[in-house]
Amino acid sequence: MAHTSERVVILGGTSGIGLATADLLLDRGYEVVIAGRNEERLTQALKTLDTRTPGRPVTGKAVDATDSEQLAALFTELGAFDHLVITVTRNGGFTSLADLEADEVRRHSEGKLLAHLLTVQAALGTLRGDGSVTLVGAVSAQLSAPGLVLLGAMNSAVESASRILAAELAPRRVNAVSPGVIETPWWDWIPEEARADTLAGAAAATAVGRPGRAEEVAHAIGFLVENAYVTGVVLPVDGGARLNVQR
Ligand SMILES: NC(=O)c1ccc[n+]([C@@H]2O[C@H](COP(=O)([O-])OP(=O)(O)OC[C@H]3O[C@@H](n4cnc5c(N)ncnc54)[C@H](OP(=O)(O)O)[C@@H]3O)[C@@H](O)[C@H]2O)c1
Repeated sequence: MAHTSERVVILGGTSGIGLATADLLLDRGYEVVIAGRNEERLTQALKTLDTRTPGRPVTGKAVDATDSEQLAALFTELGAFDHLVITVTRNGGFTSLADLEADEVRRHSEGKLLAHLLTVQAALGTLRGDGSVTLVGAVSAQLSAPGLVLLGAMNSAVESASRILAAELAPRRVNAVSPGVIETPWWDWIPEEARADTLAGAAAATAVGRPGRAEEVAHAIGFLVENAYVTGVVLPVDGGARLNVQR
């Protein structure tokens, strides 16, 4: 399948799900632009993509998705493009309401919801009229487990925004994926030993019995980018975590 005339911008494409999405879409013939805040991580991601398959059309830019001026500069420099994928995030955020700190709420609101909305807004001038936007929520939006009040609320907001924007920005398509626990650097804030326990606990709460891989979420994003008749959809990619299976 050749899409050499189509360009995709991936905010958050320097790690995890965004990086796997860049790899998948490059393999499918898209031209890809990846962006993240950290220059070193950006350089490393471009190197990784080139090492996997040399010579594919990928470029990168250091941009903070919470900064309107940086976003405006990015989209002005890039010009017209076809698909926007946003995989930016703040990590952590598991807390009970009793322990919730106002700064943590601000950090997550800014890093997830605000970043998504500002990025889509900044892209409107150059995203083609028949193009698409794919956002990333999380299974926490569907769960009611104690400790998920902040993550669940943030991801519900992003998933809800995707449906509303599908109507507001039509005929551009807007969708979201809703991943379960996926093994990516998102989890690096947990010390290594505890991380293995956390992922094992999460795996036990899925129907398929394991955490997901970034490539599996990228595959779902690829579907939402490519299927021109799908819009306003939140697609779970969670191994059945939302089904409340007891193992
Ligand atoms: N991993 C999971 O278990 C899981 C589960 C459910 C949902 N999700 C969601 O999936 C999405 C991708 O997560 P991931 O696991 O791939 O995380 P990740 O490996 O930590 O990647 C996050 C990416 O976003 C970039 N980023 C973060 N804040 C940014 C900002 N303000 N501006 C620009 N870039 C920014 C990071 O680069 P810099 O730090 O250099 O900016 C990095 O490239 C997120 O929305 C996350 O909430 C993940």
